Amino acid sequence: MIKERHTKYKTLDVTPLAGAMGGEIIGVDLSRPVKREVFRDIHRAWLDHSMIFFRNQDLSPAGLVRFARKWGAIHTHPFMPTMKGHPEILELIKNPSDKRNFGNLWHTDQSFVAKPAKATILHALETPLVGGDTMYSNMYLAYDALSCGLKKLLANIKVENTGNRNRRRGGQDKRDRYKGHSHVKPVSPPPEIDTISHHPIIRTHPETGRKGLYISSHTQGFADFDFEESLPMIEFLLEHIRRPEFTARLRWQPGTVAVWDNRCVMHYALNDYPGQRRCMRRITIKGDKPR
Ligand code: SIN
Repeated sequence: MIKERHTKYKTLDVTPLAGAMGGEIIGVDLSRPVKREVFRDIHRAWLDHSMIFFRNQDLSPAGLVRFARKWGAIHTHPFMPTMKGHPEILELIKNPSDKRNFGNLWHTDQSFVAKPAKATILHALETPLVGGDTMYSNMYLAYDALSCGLKKLLANIKVENTGNRNRRRGGQDKRDRYKGHSHVKPVSPPPEIDTISHHPIIRTHPETGRKGLYISSHTQGFADFDFEESLPMIEFLLEHIRRPEFTARLRWQPGTVAVWDNRCVMHYALNDYPGQRRCMRRITIKGDKPR
């Protein structure tokens, strides 16, 4: 196993997950107060690996919220009701009778609002015996792999993202998509939250300064273009970001906690565990306006 302790981080070990991205943090118990210098290393490792995870964490909802607040203010999902008694937490539950799961498209969280979530923290409570992994894709690598010509072409393009009724996917209402689901029950967003956004398709990460592709299942086209004009390019890019060399795959266990950086990572929740239950708690952290 490769560890990076003595080269980069003073207080913890990191075992890289894949060539593209991801790293397991070793030596941190999140149920105990995380000291400032340890959090500094966790944050550094997160910027370096874009997605980090911890195994065997025994966290109550309050403990998860406490850890989440270290990353910034809590961001709430405009379409999804929160956990009873814990308005910061979104429970993602798929029961054995459910056909659909939440997040089963390549996306970056809430790119359809003006200031999308910068980080997502996901805590696994119950996981299928096999299946229910999450795939991640590194958007720095996806950007770097584009030709010079396409980079130039996209440099000043903004995309339109929508939280519901995406035209590219047939305009279906979220509520119809999850009709009959035992747990996922989308609601209408509060009127003050606009769920259509325009963001640059090439985003500069505010902390690392690196450029990455910023696209999502929420993207329906280039802003200011006719729908049909940009559709082929959106479809091409959504295919491009799945290249195996950009990706990593996290196999969950009860007690795994992952934190990913939505500013440079897309993710996809696999729906390959029919008849089994999967139960997760999720918190997202407020981000800034993509530039
Ligand atoms: C999501 O945030 O899209 C869900 C990820 C997962 O459940 O693996």
